[in-house]
Amino acid sequence: MQPITLLIAALPSLAAAAGSLGFALGAKNADGTCKTSTDYAADFKVIGAHSKLVRTYAADQCDTAKEILPAAKAAGFKVILGIWPDTDDSYKVDKAAVVKYAPQYKDQVYAITVGSETMYRGNFTGDTLLKKINDVKSAVGGAFKVGTADSWNKYQDGTADPLIKGGADILLCNGFSYWQGQTLANSTASFFDDMMQAFGHIQNVAGSLTDGPELWVGETGWPTGGSKYQNAVPGVSSAQTYWQTAICGILDWGVNVFSFEAFDEPWKPVSTGQDGSVADETHWGVWNADRTPKFPITC
Ligand SMILES: *[C@@H]1O[C@H](CO)[C@@H](O)[C@H](O)[C@H]1NC(C)=O
Ligand SMILES: *[C@@H]1O[C@H](CO)[C@@H](O)[C@H](O)[C@H]1NC(C)=O
Repeated sequence: MQPITLLIAALPSLAAAAGSLGFALGAKNADGTCKTSTDYAADFKVIGAHSKLVRTYAADQCDTAKEILPAAKAAGFKVILGIWPDTDDSYKVDKAAVVKYAPQYKDQVYAITVGSETMYRGNFTGDTLLKKINDVKSAVGGAFKVGTADSWNKYQDGTADPLIKGGADILLCNGFSYWQGQTLANSTASFFDDMMQAFGHIQNVAGSLTDGPELWVGETGWPTGGSKYQNAVPGVSSAQTYWQTAICGILDWGVNVFSFEAFDEPWKPVSTGQDGSVADETHWGVWNADRTPKFPITC
């Protein structure tokens, strides 16, 4: 883990305190119905022992912004609202929901992300995505931090450079050793290495730590069930090990992390992984779908 030491040595202000922990939170119940404020209140009761920050993905879908913000206010939570820009329609309706609800719950909105892995999927260039980020920034009158979330390698390879130079306020870097087919034994080293490369590149382009965008690990985790992916094998004890070494480990270095994800999402259809094999995303929760714990997560 030599590389992370070098990174952190270059980042004294990051290393001064432990990083913050947040959770990615789905908008649907186990049966696929949309969550209401009551469901979010129950989620927050469980998450609240560990964090008061969650991130969501599409503000209009399932009326996420409308339903989650009152529950967040009651529970003292902050939320990252998402805009799904992949189609013009989804961009328009999510942006409208953010513009409508964020100002009503100013203290609850931590930031706004435009897109989730859109550069990774090849939907947008950095320049195109930057235009959308700046469009949202002006639509909310500059009152909120606006940025995006994408795979670590899209930051490392320069695709996201226009965002760094063009004024994104916050950048979330996703990194899954699991989807890179790593063994559990190499998973933490691989995760640290990915983040070091992504954060290091961003800071080089920004020219300074303090003037650059706020940085987070946007998603990471290890599934407790489902199919194996190359050398990566799911399981409760493996997920617990990854939590302790990778997530607690990088928090300890002063890096902010969103765990992917809070609760299992059994309603999700099975998809296809990058290598063509089955990709089961229903067992990534730190908690079961019924909100019972799977393993201890205190660092
Ligand atoms: C983004 O990518 C998805 C999946 O490849 C595709 O279905 C969609 O049409 C793309 N959207 C745009 C705006 O390119
Ligand atoms: C461990 O991960 C690193 C970084 O991703 C990679 O370069 C290396 O090949 C991996 N080692 C093994 C044994 O898979």
